[in-house]
Amino acid sequence: MDKERLKVGVIGFGRMGRLYVEEIRRNPLWTLAYICDSDEETRKAAAMVAPEAVITDDEDDIFGDPDVNVVGLFTLADARPAQIREALKTGKHVLAEKPVADDIATEWEIVDAVERSGLMFTVNMCNRNAWYHKEMIDFIRSGEIGELAIVRVAHMTPGHMPQEGHEPEGPAFHDCGMHYVDVARWYAGGEYATYHAQGVRMWSHESPWWVQVHGAFQNGVVFDITQGSVYGHMAKDQTHNCYVDVIGSKGIARTTHDYKTATVELHGVTRTVIKTGDFKDKQIDVMIDVFGRSILAGKNLGFPTVRDSVIASDMAWKMLRDAEKNGAPCIGRPEEMDEILARRRAMTNGYGLPARRQKRSSHLPPK
Ligand SMILES: NC(=O)c1ccc[n+]([C@@H]2O[C@H](COP(=O)([O-])OP(=O)(O)OC[C@H]3O[C@@H](n4cnc5c(N)ncnc54)[C@H](O)[C@@H]3O)[C@@H](O)[C@H]2O)c1
Repeated sequence: MDKERLKVGVIGFGRMGRLYVEEIRRNPLWTLAYICDSDEETRKAAAMVAPEAVITDDEDDIFGDPDVNVVGLFTLADARPAQIREALKTGKHVLAEKPVADDIATEWEIVDAVERSGLMFTVNMCNRNAWYHKEMIDFIRSGEIGELAIVRVAHMTPGHMPQEGHEPEGPAFHDCGMHYVDVARWYAGGEYATYHAQGVRMWSHESPWWVQVHGAFQNGVVFDITQGSVYGHMAKDQTHNCYVDVIGSKGIARTTHDYKTATVELHGVTRTVIKTGDFKDKQIDVMIDVFGRSILAGKNLGFPTVRDSVIASDMAWKMLRDAEKNGAPCIGRPEEMDEILARRRAMTNGYGLPARRQKRSSHLPPK
């Protein structure tokens, strides 16, 4: 293996795949060797963005190339298990989107296979790569807020709708909400013990698209998580409400963002710290960099693991099923959902729009 550079083949050049390709091309640790996508129009877009890469519809071109050290798996969850098995069989490290499979038994089989493989494997639990969460956690762990008691997490946006793809990833509370199930567990530093969930079937859709869950961790920390892609889709000017609010026996720590800037407000017993900085959404530059350096160093230098991702996925499914069991009421009409979908089809700039309406990745020159 080249001791300074990694050769990567990317599978899936949709909304997320494009972001990865952009960051891989920027980072000097990486060489983009292949882009594979099953869709012809998407392959044409890939060829324009990355003229240096081999563009293919056959993933075996990547798995069969012994010079490729890493595969990036950015298709949907139903395609991932077979691709992961092939990557492990051909000895390639894996950079995967979440969730790693579309059913939980397969996700746990993947954890087992990865942990036995000796290969490096990270999953894009993007919050774990975010500077503002790291600042919060360092402050909390330093004892500044006393004993950690309550973790409150909210992520509400006018975002991804039913019928916009991602069916294998499940309804919003699993597809997106698993990130915030992971965030609460990371802050609490323990495993989930109890939970109770309430949902709303907004626009009378069959699945709750807004879910709130509360409960406790085994270490006694209590939590609430609110996630919904139902936050004012038809508002003249769209907004959102995203925060983590942590309460200790002596102080508090909280963070909010507006998708451009993140703010951290830390009120500890000896220090008050207020910081704002670039939000950087999916933190893919950080993920690519830490994963690349980890492979070259032969040890995990801080990337999120497949086990953390599968615990979050497993718990998010359980909490969603609890919300369904507890009788989520229907609010709103299917025609309102149709209006929202029509508005989003016409939008070029919005929260979580499907790939075909996103701006293409910038055309960086090849490295
Ligand atoms: N971490 C995050 O915050 C975050 C955010 C959004 C999406 N995601 C995840 O990223 C993944 C991709 O989501 P997306 O929004 O980019 O989806 P997308 O539908 O825009 O892109 C998927 C791409 O994969 C291609 N594809 C599908 N099956 C394939 C196969 N077998 N071989 C080759 N190409 C194939 C499709 O043609 C498409 O171009 C999903 O698993 C989703 O859950 C994660």
